[in-house]
This record gives sequence, structure tokens and C-alpha cells, in this order.
Amino acid sequence: EKGGYEHFMLKEIYEQPRSIADCMRGRLDAKNGRLVLGGLRDYMNKFQNADRIIITACGTSWHAGLVAEYLFEEFARIPVEVEYASEFRYRNPVVNEKDFVIAISQSGETADTLAAIELAKSKGATIFGVCNVVGSSIARATHAGSYTHAGPEIGVASTKAFTAQISVLTMMALMLGYQRGTLTESKYVQLLNELEKIPSKVEETLQMNPHIEEISAEYKDARNFLYLGRGYNFPVALEGALKLKEISYIHAEGYPAAEMKHGPIALIDEEMPVVFIATKDNSYEKVVSNIQEVKARKGKIIAVVTEGDTTVKSMADHVLEIPDTAEAFVPLLSVIPLQILSYHIAVMRGCNVDQPRNLAKSVTVE
Ligand code: F6R
Repeated sequence: EKGGYEHFMLKEIYEQPRSIADCMRGRLDAKNGRLVLGGLRDYMNKFQNADRIIITACGTSWHAGLVAEYLFEEFARIPVEVEYASEFRYRNPVVNEKDFVIAISQSGETADTLAAIELAKSKGATIFGVCNVVGSSIARATHAGSYTHAGPEIGVASTKAFTAQISVLTMMALMLGYQRGTLTESKYVQLLNELEKIPSKVEETLQMNPHIEEISAEYKDARNFLYLGRGYNFPVALEGALKLKEISYIHAEGYPAAEMKHGPIALIDEEMPVVFIATKDNSYEKVVSNIQEVKARKGKIIAVVTEGDTTVKSMADHVLEIPDTAEAFVPLLSVIPLQILSYHIAVMRGCNVDQPRNLAKSVTVE
């Protein structure tokens, strides 16, 4: 059932080229410049005219929501708020009929997310679900939705569900931007073509596995890890840190790289591995200077970079190269080496990778 893999988590990491393709199948047709999400059809008007998009979720799904905030604001120019379901529901939030709420959940059973949906619904908002499990409670509680079609995810640490969530949210943002006219036809078509190449670029990224395994051996005994990224890679830093802590039990924190100087920099010494996501994008130069600051304090640097990068390569202890793509699609690639890194470290520490202590696959308690 693990298809020859030692753990479900590794199998699911390796399934991502296919699960992302499955998620796009029948929806994205780049050649003909077409993108259709069936679940959105009846609600496109509401979506297009929303004053605001509120995204609610927990854990890894909340990280996918953060990526979506960047996507929706960049492509569709609608303000977005991303809310932990557990905070949103308990603070008497301001919500009304003009709000479009997106609830993201792999299991579709997370109690806090379900309660947040019921609350927003009672205030008249339109609720759209992005779920993996067909027929789940959240899928049923929403007005409409698009499934992620990633297939069953058995490993407790979410991997392929996360990239499928981002794939659906990316398609939503592109459709919305095109309909609203905030995304030009030529840019839209160019992005559709780039999106179609993502599964094969994920495949290429997976080839780093043996290299990441070697690096993992060097850092498996670390007591702390810092993950830093900016822009689209900030949520990826949070997700990388979450993956490491939940399965290897190493303390890890993710931060926006620019926030480092406001506190976390005090932690840096030769014992502190820092994972930078430093791909070639708008904030590249800034991230490079953060890398220099860490190096000056003798921190160990593992950097995820764009293929062919030489600047970061000359500074970092280790580089993990991912294929070039549109800035907005980078999370779909940059998260892959971080999933693999946490996997190997956890295995080397003798942890129960698929069923980490104290965690459950669906959190049905509030
Ligand atoms: C992380 C993880 C959890 C879930 C969270 C939400 O790897 O598995 O953080 O992401 O419990 O679960 P869903 O998406 O099922 O609502």
C-alpha cells in the first residue's frame, strides 16, 4: 500500500507531480487559454464583486491561505484577510453579505474551521470550500467549492494536500484576475502556460532527494532551526518549520526574512541552522543581505535557490536548486525540498514519521 516507499509521507511527497496534475486536469487548458473551475461557475459574480476575501483555515491549510493572499491581491486586486479559524470564530468578527469566505481543509473535518464557516454563514457571507476529502463535513457546509483531488493523504504531516490547495487557489486567483480585468489577456495566457509546466518542474525538484538526505545527516542533531523567506516564500518558511517540528520534534520557527533583525537574529550562532528560501524574485537582493548577516554570525546556511544561482552559492553551506518559474508559482516548488529535509531528519532521529506523537490526521476537537 506504500507502493514501495518506506513511509506514506515519502510516497505522498513523490506523488506531487501527479497530484498537482490531477488537480489541474479538466480545469486548465493552457493551449486554448482556458481555465474553468466548475464549482466556481455559479458564484463567479459574487466572487468578482466581493469587497473582501476572507480565508479561514488551520495549520498547513492556513499556510496555503497565506500564499493565496499574495495571489489574490496580486492578480485580482481584492483585499484579503487570512484568519486562523480558531481566532476568527471567537472574536465576534465583522463579516457581511459582501464578503467571500474561502475555507481550506484537507480533511474537511477540522472542528474550528467548520465552526468559522457556520459563523460566517450566519452573517450572510458566501462560503467557498477548498477540501480534499469528498463529501466531508466542510464540503457539505459550504455554498460551493472546488476539490483538490490530491487523493487520500495518510501521513499526518500534510504534503501533497498543501500543493494541491495552492494549485486550486492559484487557478481561482487567475480566473478572478482575468474576469476582473486586473490581469491582461497576454499575461493570463503566459501564466496558464507556466502553470501547466509545474508538475514536470516538481518532478525535477524531487531529484534532489539524495542530496537532501546527505545534508539531513549533518543537521539531524540540531536543537533549533530557523526558516526565512519573503513574499511568496514567507508562507513556505512557516510551512517548512511546521513540517520539521511536527515530525522530528526539533524546535523550528519560520519568519519573514526581514523580521530577523527585529529579534530572531539574537539566536544566531554556530549552532543555528538557518534555511533560507532565496529564489530569484523581487526580494532576492534583500534576502541575500539577510544571508550575509547570518553568515557573519556563523550561522549554518541551507538555501533554496533558483537553478543557476551563483551569488547565494558562494555564501551558503548548502544550496538546493529548484527550476525557474513565475514568482507566484514558486511555493509549489520551493516547499518540496523542505518537505524532504524534514522527512529525512525525522527518519534519522528514529521518529514515527507517519504518525507523530500527539497529532491526529483530523482535529475534530475545538
Ligand atoms: C500539518 C497538519 C495540520 C493540518 C491542520 C488542518 O502537517 O497536518 O497542521 O494542516 O490540522 O487540517 P485540515 O487541512 O484537515 O483542516
